[in-house]
Amino acid sequence: MPKKKAHMYAFVQHGVNSHAPGMWRHPKDKVNWDWNRPAYWQHMGRTLERGFFDAIFVADELAPYSNVDGKSDESVKWALQCPVHEPSTIVPIITTATTYLGVGLTLSTAFEHPYSMVRRLSSLDHLSNGRIAWNMVSSYSKSEWDAYGQEMTMRYDRYARMEEYVDLCYKLWRSWEEDAIISDKASGVYADPAKVHEVNHEGTYFKCKGRSFVCRSPQGHPVLWQAGSSDRGRDFAAKHAEAIFAVHPTVERMREYTDDLDRRLVNKFNRRAGSVKRIYGLQTCVADTRAEARDKWERIKSCIPLAGALAWISGHFGPDFTKFKLNDCLQNIEIPGIQGLFESVIHSKGGAPVTVKEGALYYAQGMGMPLACGTAKDIADQMEFYMDEGGADGFMLAATYTPGCFEEFVDYVIPELQRRGRVRTKYRYTTLRENLLEPDDQAQPELKLVKGGRKNSNM
Ligand SMILES: Cc1cc2nc3c(=O)[nH]c(=O)nc-3n(C[C@H](O)[C@H](O)[C@H](O)COP(=O)(O)O)c2cc1C
Repeated sequence: MPKKKAHMYAFVQHGVNSHAPGMWRHPKDKVNWDWNRPAYWQHMGRTLERGFFDAIFVADELAPYSNVDGKSDESVKWALQCPVHEPSTIVPIITTATTYLGVGLTLSTAFEHPYSMVRRLSSLDHLSNGRIAWNMVSSYSKSEWDAYGQEMTMRYDRYARMEEYVDLCYKLWRSWEEDAIISDKASGVYADPAKVHEVNHEGTYFKCKGRSFVCRSPQGHPVLWQAGSSDRGRDFAAKHAEAIFAVHPTVERMREYTDDLDRRLVNKFNRRAGSVKRIYGLQTCVADTRAEARDKWERIKSCIPLAGALAWISGHFGPDFTKFKLNDCLQNIEIPGIQGLFESVIHSKGGAPVTVKEGALYYAQGMGMPLACGTAKDIADQMEFYMDEGGADGFMLAATYTPGCFEEFVDYVIPELQRRGRVRTKYRYTTLRENLLEPDDQAQPELKLVKGGRKNSNM
């Protein structure tokens, strides 16, 4: 049986810093690069395409976190995902500098009507020739709701609204049939109105009456991604997503999630096990020797300010963690924020108690992702282990200093993975969906139907 190949993604924000606070102060961060300028994004795109990544994946939130003392001072002070510019603005810049690389966009459904969301995403899908993915989120942070002058709704309600949201998006994406455009100069008829359907939606949350303004885009609709991990979030992913992004600190947790998603796909939504790609987060640090990699990692960690780390976990998880004692146990704290990521922290020591300080610093190294630090061979070994034992279909790499961390991964680790037949050596398709799902790839492992779940060999 041919080995499964990893789908590679780079996790960034359209901002000065991504998902490891303090990295902007690393001496190698953005040397001679300005993240505010197109050249930086073009270079990032070309670097990742050189490494045959599926896509660059742009996270987003809509306002600075204000969980410490009810103010956003700490977010501003420590550059905690702040400043962050609008993510879709960099898409044409990246996709005109590349030919195959996709762009995953996190766009919140909370404050934008589906009609304009579809219009924006489909326009970008046209301009990129089918290289867009959409990470569907519903805004989990109170600061976002405050910024938009609205009362934050509960998780269940946010998912119910997002269900209807996506439902309406599908209707709009289907509005234009594939052969609706005739473009007959002799008769003057451009499109056949019988093949451009009017949407007439009256739901609990949205009303929409009209045809989509954007004709069918190369992918029909963007590749749908989801990163929720509550029970409700996993169901949503199993129903709608083509790929999920999750963070698990251990291979056991990956396996558990992989099997759980397969059971939901098969038992609840009549989809094949394995039909949703599982892309798991990974933080990497590569060097010629293990000792060098360790030193390098220590230097990276020394950039993380503890106060910034505490404020950042407060932003992602909800409570003001500066009010806890540093040696309080995290396992005892209830959180209203991103449950899935909180679990990556509380399981970071394999089930042993994790203190507030340990948890904050661990999380700040790359949003709770496991670390692969060592030579290219060490990192490739670890990735193979996560694929074979954890069920990973690919990896979302967190950033340290940029663009250097991605250049190094592409120069060191990708060739090692290619030698092992674990990543592609050329792009076979032009759209992101095809590169992700590889519809006619013989090397795809046989997809098994999972009914009762499988036994975890690591537990
Ligand atoms: C790995 C990961 C990455 C996420 N990235 C974002 C993001 O960039 N923007 C955002 O608004 N939410 C993000 N989220 C939040 C989720 O999309 C989701 O809205 C949140 O986890 C609440 O859903 P849940 O309760 O089902 O987990 C992320 C979550 C996870 C687990």
